[in-house]
Amino acid sequence: MKILRTKAELRAQTRSWRGAGESIGVVPTMGALHEGHLSLVNAARARADRVIVTLFVNPRQFNNPDDLAKYPRTEESDSRILDPLGVDVLYLPDLDQMYPEGFATSVSVEGLTAYLCGATRPGHFDGVATVVAKLLLQTDADFAFFGEKDFQQLQVVRRMVMDLDIPTEIVGCSTIREDSGLALSSRNLRLGEDALAQAPAIYATLGATVTAIRDGGGIDASVRAAGDRLKQAGIGPIDYLELRRESDLARATDLSTPARLFVAAWLDGVRLIDNVPV
Ligand code: PAJ
Repeated sequence: MKILRTKAELRAQTRSWRGAGESIGVVPTMGALHEGHLSLVNAARARADRVIVTLFVNPRQFNNPDDLAKYPRTEESDSRILDPLGVDVLYLPDLDQMYPEGFATSVSVEGLTAYLCGATRPGHFDGVATVVAKLLLQTDADFAFFGEKDFQQLQVVRRMVMDLDIPTEIVGCSTIREDSGLALSSRNLRLGEDALAQAPAIYATLGATVTAIRDGGGIDASVRAAGDRLKQAGIGPIDYLELRRESDLARATDLSTPARLFVAAWLDGVRLIDNVPV
């Protein structure tokens, strides 16, 4: 696995692959890699001839400076984890490569970003859309792999590549969980022992609520009961807990189109998100 740190080195590499007629898959990450990220790497290896993993903790998508400061940085162990997995390039740009002096452009996706994390984290998705657009262009990727764990992000990226004619196919991959049901997340590293024991209540609650809704329990009543159950489990405050349509993330008032139950909640000073299809 080559470690590249500049756009120029990356461009030279992708040009030579392209010259040999090889396809390129990219897995964008912010590091602190876990099995969720590695499942994206495996999906990329199965689909593309060459695989690039990018690792860049993107300051523009952190609306909270404290969250950025506390974001885990484990570059060395990340590189060690990726090395045996058949990744061709680990791209580790520094801030100057991504946002050189005078950088003045922002990509903003309307509509989809009005809800959920877009409503509770102002500016977050502009930061995500901007950095992902840059990473897709820098890596010249045919395919890019994103987790359903961040379902809204996946839909925002899909909209963005369509709207900007970026010729990269966006591939969504299912959420990887601990045996307890807790969705793997780099932020889980910041949970204390007690919080780690409480956190599985999030997925358990989502699952029970999906069952209740499917059994005709009523969307509003079932979601309200879910909020109570989370609070009883010591989880909160809750930023949102909502049933929304997959396609446009509008509120789902029935089950006539695919919908997901989305949650963002605080535990031990850490904001956790999850979602499940209904
Ligand atoms: P990060 O949180 O590092 O996540 C990188 C990718 O891993 C995202 O596509 C995310 O959805 C996926 N992922 C995280 N946890 C997962 C899990 N438990 N199962 C499956 N996939 C999982 O998301 C970002 O970074 C950034 O916003 C980024 C897209 C890199 C732009 O900066």
